[in-house]
Amino acid sequence: MKNRESTFQADAVRAIARRLVTAGAVLSLAIGPAFAQSPAARPAPAKPVAAHPMGGAAVDDARLLAADGEPGTWMATGRTYSEQHFSPLTKIDKANVGQLGLAWYGDIDTERGQESTPVVVDGALYITTAWSKVKAYDAKTGRKLWDYDPKVDPANGAVACCDVVNRGVAAWKGRLYLGALDGRLIALDAKTGKVAWSVQTTDPAQPYTITQTPRIVKGLVIIGNGGAEYTCRGYVSAYDAATGKLKWRFYTVPAQPGDPTNTPQLKTALKTWDGDFWKYGGGGTAWDTILYDPKTDLIYFGTGNGLSWSQEVRSPKGGDNLFVSSIIAVKPQTGKYVWHFQEVPGDEWDYDVTNPLMTADLKIKGVMRHVLMQAPKTGFFYVWDAKTGKLISAEKYAPANWASKIDLKTGRPVENPDVRYTDEKAAIVQPAPLGAHNWHPMAYSPKTGWVYIPVTESTTGFQSAKPADFKVKERVYNTATVATSDKITELYGKPGAPQRGNIRSYLEAYDPVTQKAVWKAPDKDYGPHGVLATAGNLVFSGDWSGRFNAFDAKTGEKLWSAPTQADVVAAPSTYVIDGEQYVALLVGARGLPPGQARTSASSANNSRLLVYKLNASLTLPSTPIAGSVAGKVLDPPLLTGTNEQVIDGEGAYGRFCAGCHGAAGVADKSIPDLRYSPVLRNLATWNSIVLDGARADKGMVSFKKVLADGQAEAIYHYIVSQANKAKAEQAKR
Ligand code: HEC
Repeated sequence: MKNRESTFQADAVRAIARRLVTAGAVLSLAIGPAFAQSPAARPAPAKPVAAHPMGGAAVDDARLLAADGEPGTWMATGRTYSEQHFSPLTKIDKANVGQLGLAWYGDIDTERGQESTPVVVDGALYITTAWSKVKAYDAKTGRKLWDYDPKVDPANGAVACCDVVNRGVAAWKGRLYLGALDGRLIALDAKTGKVAWSVQTTDPAQPYTITQTPRIVKGLVIIGNGGAEYTCRGYVSAYDAATGKLKWRFYTVPAQPGDPTNTPQLKTALKTWDGDFWKYGGGGTAWDTILYDPKTDLIYFGTGNGLSWSQEVRSPKGGDNLFVSSIIAVKPQTGKYVWHFQEVPGDEWDYDVTNPLMTADLKIKGVMRHVLMQAPKTGFFYVWDAKTGKLISAEKYAPANWASKIDLKTGRPVENPDVRYTDEKAAIVQPAPLGAHNWHPMAYSPKTGWVYIPVTESTTGFQSAKPADFKVKERVYNTATVATSDKITELYGKPGAPQRGNIRSYLEAYDPVTQKAVWKAPDKDYGPHGVLATAGNLVFSGDWSGRFNAFDAKTGEKLWSAPTQADVVAAPSTYVIDGEQYVALLVGARGLPPGQARTSASSANNSRLLVYKLNASLTLPSTPIAGSVAGKVLDPPLLTGTNEQVIDGEGAYGRFCAGCHGAAGVADKSIPDLRYSPVLRNLATWNSIVLDGARADKGMVSFKKVLADGQAEAIYHYIVSQANKAKAEQAKR
C-alpha cells in the first residue's frame, strides 16, 4: 500500500496515527556569523577533556554545559541542553558526503517502532528500542557491550496509543535513565546495564504509558507520561537521580474540586472547565518534550489533549480547559509553576503541544533574543522569550485551516468558526490529529539560522459522538468523536473542500526570524522522520521509502542517499572516534516500506541500528524481507457470515483492532495482516486468541471485556470478507 496513512486516516482509528506518525575531536570555529553573534551558542573554550573510561557515561552539569567543547560527543538526545539536534562537526561535508558508507550495523530484536536518537559518550553508543529495551555498543566497532530488557508486560501495548516505542536514554554520572512503557523509571549502570534502582511513577492499575526520554537537571530526573485518550490525568515528576526518591510532582489539569492535588494554579484552572470532566481524567499528558534551559533555569514541557477530545462531552459549556495543549515553565528544584502559554484554548482536535521544544539565540529586529521555539501539530511556528514566555512571533509553517493567525497581543489563535463540531455539526480540520509536525526531532543550525522541520500535511473530519451515549471503555480511544459520518462525507464533497486524509510530507527549512519557509524537500512516500543538522552544512534524515538521506542545508538539494530496508522515524546523531566522524541512525517503524506489508507474526520490520562513516562499504544483507506480501497469495476460507455480521464486524474492527492491525484489515505496521492469517481457517483458534488471550504474552491481549457478545465472530467474518475481496483483486492482476 503506497499511501498507508490515507486509509488509516479515513478510519475510525485515524487518531491512533497521531503520535506516530508520530553529534569530535576537531572543533570547528568557523561556524558562521549567526553562531559567532550568539553568546549562548558560542562553543566553550576547548579545554582538554579528561579521559573517561569506556562506557563510563560520565555526564554531569558542567560537562553538558561545555558540550560544545567536545563536539565529537552526543551526550543527550538533542546533544546539548538546547535540544537543537545540531552538531558542530565538519569532517563530513557537502564535498565528501557522497563517500559516506555503512561502517557497522546492529540488528534489533524487537519489531514495531524504533524512535530513539543514539546517545554517544565515552566511546559507547546507547539506544532504546520498542518495548523499552536498552542496548549499548562500542561506538567504533559496533561490538555489543550489553542488552537490558525491562520485561514490560505486553498487555501494556493495548493502552500505548501510538505503538510500544521509546525515544531514548538520559546519561548521567555513570548511569542511564529510562522511562519504561509500563510507567517505571529505571536507572541502569552504564557499564553493565544492571539496574541501580527502579520506581513506578504511575498507578499500574491506570492506563498510563511512558515513551519519552527523561531529562536530568541538577541531579533530578524529570519524567512525564502519556495516556490522555485512556482516562489519564497528566503530570510531570522529579526523582532524585542518586536514589530514585520522588522530589516533586506537577499535575497539568485539575482534579475534582476540593482534591488536595489542586494547587493554586489548578484552582484557577478549574474555572476554565465545565461539567464532571475529572471523571475521565482530564488528559493534558506531557508525553514527549521536557527541556531544561540553564540560562533561565527553567524546565519547559508541553501538554497534550484533554479527554475526551470532543468539548461538547468533556466540558459542555466550553472554556479554555487549562492546562491542556499548553507550554508550562516550572522551577527545576521545586516544580513550582512560573508561567504557561496555552496554544490551543479548548482544544478539540487532538492538538497536543508536546512536540520538541528548543532554545536558541536569535537576532530579531536587531536585538539578540534568547528564545524558546516550537513547531507544534497546529501548523504555527512559535517563538517566545524563553524567560517570560512572552510571544515574539507565530506564523504558519504548514497549511492549517483551524485558525487564520495567532493574535500576538493575546497569544490566542483566531479560530475558523467552522472547525468546532458537535454531535449535530461536522467539521473538516487541517492539520489532522497527526499534526503538521509530531514528536520527530527537528533541528536548528546556528550556521544557517534555520530550523529543519519534518512536515506532514493532512486533513480529517470530526463529529461528536452523542454526549448521552459516551461511556468510557478500557483499552480503546475515548475521544467521543466519530471519524466517518454522512455529514463529514458531505463536507468533503463540497466544491473547494480540502483533500481528504494524508496529502504530502516534506523536509522544510524554516527561518524562525522572518517566519518564512526557505526550502522544501518533498518525500516520495508520506511519513515524518527525525532530523540532524551539522556544521558541515548538511541535514540528515531518513524517510518512509526505506532511505537515509543527506541534504545541502542551504538549498535542500539531496546530496547522498542509502537504502535502510525499513521505514525511518527516528533522528540520527553524529560523533567522532579516533578522528573519524560517524553518523548513527535507528531504523524500523510501525510501517514497513511500500510493498512490504507484514503478513505473519514471524515476519520482520528490519529494525536495525545503522552507522556510517566516510569510505566505508559494508552492505545490508540482501535476503528478501520475510513476510512480505509481494508474491504472497491470499487463501481465505469462503465467507459464511451474514451481511449483518460483516457490518457489525467492520464497526467493531475499526474501533478495537484497526489501531494495531491496520485500517480495513490491511496491515500498515509490524503487526500481522489478519487477511493472510492461517487462523482464519479455524474460528475456535480465532476466539482463543481474541477472547481468551492465547497470545497475550506476544502483545495480543484478550478483548473479552470490551467486545459485545458475538462481536469476535462478527470481526472474524468481516476479515474473511475483506480477505475474499482482496483475493478477487489479486486474481484480476
Ligand atoms: C495493541 C495492539 C493490538 C490490538 C488492538 C489487536 N491486536 Fe491482534 N495482534 C496483535 C499482535 C502484536 C499480534 C501478534 C501476536 C503474535 O506474535 O503471535 C496479534 C495477533 C492477532 C491474531 C493472530 C494472527 C496470526 O496470524 O497469528 C489475531 C487473530 C488477532 N490478533 C485478532 C485481533 C482482533 C480481532 C482484534 C480486535 C478485537 C485485535 N487483534 C486487536 C496486536 C493487537
